[in-house]
Amino acid sequence: MASLFEPFDLNGTRLDNRIIMAPMTRSRAVEDIPTEMGALYYRQRASAGLIISEGTPVSRQGQGYLYNPGIFGPDQIAGWAKATRAVHERNGVIYAQIWHVGRVSHTSVQIAGQSPVGPSDKQGGMAFGYNEDGKPDMMKASQPRRLETREVRQIVRDFAQAAVNSREAGFDGVEVHGANGYLFEQFLNPGVNDRDDEYGGSRENRCRLLLEVVDEVSRMIGSRRVGVRLSPFGTLFDMPEYDDNGETYLHLAREFNKRGLAYVHLHDQGGQGMPPMPRDYLRQFRDVYDGNLLLAGNLDQAEAQKLVDEGTIDLPVFGRPFTSNPDLVERMRNGWPLTPFDPNTFYGGDARGYIDFPTYPEEQARLEREKMIEEKS
Ligand SMILES: Cc1cc2nc3c(=O)[nH]c(=O)nc-3n(C[C@H](O)[C@H](O)[C@H](O)COP(=O)(O)O)c2cc1C
Repeated sequence: MASLFEPFDLNGTRLDNRIIMAPMTRSRAVEDIPTEMGALYYRQRASAGLIISEGTPVSRQGQGYLYNPGIFGPDQIAGWAKATRAVHERNGVIYAQIWHVGRVSHTSVQIAGQSPVGPSDKQGGMAFGYNEDGKPDMMKASQPRRLETREVRQIVRDFAQAAVNSREAGFDGVEVHGANGYLFEQFLNPGVNDRDDEYGGSRENRCRLLLEVVDEVSRMIGSRRVGVRLSPFGTLFDMPEYDDNGETYLHLAREFNKRGLAYVHLHDQGGQGMPPMPRDYLRQFRDVYDGNLLLAGNLDQAEAQKLVDEGTIDLPVFGRPFTSNPDLVERMRNGWPLTPFDPNTFYGGDARGYIDFPTYPEEQARLEREKMIEEKS
């Protein structure tokens, strides 16, 4: 039986253990530039086998929320370099999750108030921009504009550049964000994608954009450093259900087999109050996909170990538990209790709920001190 606490070979990159930190947007980069505080946040969590960074937009067009640290400008690259250095100093491994939100954006976040873009003009999702009073607010995503074919090709180039920038910033690899209702899922879904060019219609055409991006990004940094995140059967951000869903992702799995990627990362949205991925589908996907398979979505240690033991997945991914347990790996290894997470501080705000969660030994030392003070008084 493979222990979660033994090293793992991620297609040539050595991970210290199998406990993976999920990509999590924390919305604290006020100028869209990664901060010192962000670097500390990642340093604190560097004992994860692999950290996947919060989604980092590949362009302003690809941004749907305020305060997301991007990966397209020189200041952003320099900012991320602080985070990757901090993680590497603790012998951690960190991938950048490169991201284009597609239609899930707002005119107030886009350059010169332009419309967000998507495969079609079908509207959907929620964005975080400035409301009519100029205050930051969660709002319905704006009416999108259908991309011209040549603009789709520009997006492929934006991802390729983002991969180069990620390498320059010191990331060990990139994860292409193909999940959760954003650009790639909008193209995969025939309920949103009604195009009649080579990016719409047949299953092959709907998958084309994601595969082109994976290929271009691989050409830039090597396929062994490229992961892809997918959420089969995901409905987040108004993604309509469709008959071909399971087969579309199996088609992608077969295509990824030819490419020798670092991994495919599935996100089961069931844990976030959405309909779950059908139970037998994970097994089906596993049977088709030959490479390293990651899974996120409400896992706990026991379930993670079981899935690894059965051979259903290679690496379990934990999101929310990592927000409040910087030493999640040590806590799991030693059977120490977990600090519950605090949804109120997930997005935005300051250091509170971000970098102030102690490790278990720190927490014990504080309790000890408090006890001594109490005893003396
Ligand atoms: C605060 C927060 C931010 C998130 N941001 C992202 C993101 O930037 N990219 C992404 O693919 N998923 C994102 N997710 C989803 C997580 O990666 C993960 O799949 C989800 O939380 C389920 O795992 P968990 O049950 O272990 O938390 C986010 C989740 C949370 C709670």
